Amino acid sequence: MTEIIKVDPLNPDPSIIKYVAEIIVKGGLVAFPTETVYGLGADTFNSSAVKKIFEVKGRPIDNPLIVHVSNLEQLERITYDISDKALKLIDCFWPGPLTLIFKRKSGVPPEVSAYLPTIAVRMPANPIALSLINESKTPIAAPSANISSKPSPTSAEHVIKDLYDKIDIIIDGGETLYGVESTILNIQSDPPKLLRPGAIPLEEIEKVVGCVDVSEAALAEKPYQLIAEAPGMKYRHYAPMAPMFLVEGEIDRVVAKIIELAQEDVLKGLKVGVLATSETCKLYPESFNVIVLGSRSEPYTIAHNLFKSLRLMDDLNVNKIYAEGLPMKGILFAVQNRLRKASGHNIIRV
Ligand code: TXA
Ligand code: MG
Repeated sequence: MTEIIKVDPLNPDPSIIKYVAEIIVKGGLVAFPTETVYGLGADTFNSSAVKKIFEVKGRPIDNPLIVHVSNLEQLERITYDISDKALKLIDCFWPGPLTLIFKRKSGVPPEVSAYLPTIAVRMPANPIALSLINESKTPIAAPSANISSKPSPTSAEHVIKDLYDKIDIIIDGGETLYGVESTILNIQSDPPKLLRPGAIPLEEIEKVVGCVDVSEAALAEKPYQLIAEAPGMKYRHYAPMAPMFLVEGEIDRVVAKIIELAQEDVLKGLKVGVLATSETCKLYPESFNVIVLGSRSEPYTIAHNLFKSLRLMDDLNVNKIYAEGLPMKGILFAVQNRLRKASGHNIIRV
């Protein structure tokens, strides 16, 4: 049975955190909130617990995990090349949603990073996550706490739906702040390379380290078979049950195209869902199931609502989904990356 415990994210009860940390230390699996999405955590140094993470998520073993630390001493236990550039980024963005790629120390179980010589690490900012790692006194390996290929969980309810009875504990710390995962930056190359756009905008990182290369995986324009450089990025991600189409271009034309295509579907008797924004939602006919992500002038709200809206489409049992493309700027770069992947790269340009 999976235990569900409510914890105040701003002021986590130390006795509960201590209790959950003991479960981590004993090799258990714990779902906990971070500021991005919920993670499914285990002791990084316990290889059988780490293997269990892959099992319960149905995660391919060549998709490496992110390790979460609460201090620099823990970072030194798992990596051996903390460069000045890394320290500068850590200084600016940790604790927070920036994952950095380091060289992996040999004592770390290799399955954590899918046998790569490198390891992805971040220090989360959510007080529940930070205090849990601190109390466990070990770095916590944690992918997003969803079944592989499903949208990442931004509330305990999402985790319960995907993983109930498969893990030891779910900490319910309410909805996550950002709603999209951390930004992943490979600092092994010069200039550094963005592997996944995320909660920290690329523009903010460039202010600190100068120009950054952007990987093809981050742009997510092409189907996964054509992209090799970012492990794990090749799998279908964030996918709702219904086929999804992402319409990109100038906003008026996007709306017109969605109306044209979706109206044909409705005439065929299909139930159609549209992921829209506050600026556009009133333009769609009532026969569409319109979900509003937020206002285009409040991009953080759009990110916050993205994954729960994709899951809502499943609950509504729609047959087809159309989504409006968004500008690849700030946090919307991350949203657009997730939408491209969720659509299986069914991108319609108008
Ligand atoms: O915000 C987040 O990052 C959340 C929370 C829980 O911290 N975690 C998360 O983990 O998104 P996950 O497993 O869903 O995504 C981790 C991604 C993998 O898909 C993989 O591409 C990349 O991190 N990754 C991990 N290790 C890597 C490495 N050594 N080199 C390149 N990419 C790596
Ligand atoms: Mg994930």
